Amino acid sequence: MPTAGDWLDYWDGDVSLYVSPRHLEAHYHGLFEALRPLLPTPPFTLLDYGCGEALMAPALAARGARVLLHDAAPSRAEVLRRRFAGIAGIEVAEELPTGRRDCDLVLLISVLQYIPKADLPGLFERLRSCLKPGGRLVVGDILAPDTGVLADVVALLRFAWREGFFLDALRGLLRTLRSDYGRMRSHLGLTTWRLDEIGAVLDAAGFDVEPLAWNIGHAGHRRSLVATARA
Ligand SMILES: C[S@@+](CC[C@H](N)C(=O)[O-])C[C@H]1O[C@@H](n2cnc3c(N)ncnc32)[C@H](O)[C@@H]1O
Repeated sequence: MPTAGDWLDYWDGDVSLYVSPRHLEAHYHGLFEALRPLLPTPPFTLLDYGCGEALMAPALAARGARVLLHDAAPSRAEVLRRRFAGIAGIEVAEELPTGRRDCDLVLLISVLQYIPKADLPGLFERLRSCLKPGGRLVVGDILAPDTGVLADVVALLRFAWREGFFLDALRGLLRTLRSDYGRMRSHLGLTTWRLDEIGAVLDAAGFDVEPLAWNIGHAGHRRSLVATARA
């Protein structure tokens, strides 16, 4: 049975999943555009849980957000601190601001697939305790149980074609198949959720759930939802 630490070890190392700098740039630009309709009226406080490279943080800060970046991979905090040093409105939160209920928006984008199912109720409860009553949790890029690797490959190639890094994507896919990510995906697998199943976990953690009509992420076959924290 995989544990949370198995995937975290991968994310703490040299991540091979992004095929080029252009891929990373297009990825975070796409996330920002998909999130734009969900941003609260400024000023607002946003916690990005599992933020990864967090390249959209400056765009969020420019929209009036106080951006708190949190990633459980131990080496990430230092990288993020160096990257965003001196940029007003961006903070690296090594500890989750639980219990304060002062965030307007929490992002959980493309993270669920790396978290064992049994850990999710506790995580949702911690994230709710960061949110103001009525604050919103955006869960993005949810992988459904019947999705195979092929759908992800096709989605990446389409995205790469549109965004001008198709050859890099082909080379990157070959690398990924032989990489730690490829080995771990076939060995550990990714956690998958049906929307009704995850809706029930969110409801039990004190959220009202509304599926989104679009995905926060380039893969159209993945799903996203908005969960509003009850008082
Ligand atoms: C695919 S990246 C997503 C990054 C960013 N949210 C995005 O959408 O681009 C997955 C992130 O989840 C984090 N992560 C992986 N396993 C985790 C776990 N068990 N608990 C918390 N975060 C985890 C990793 O450190 C990594 O930054």
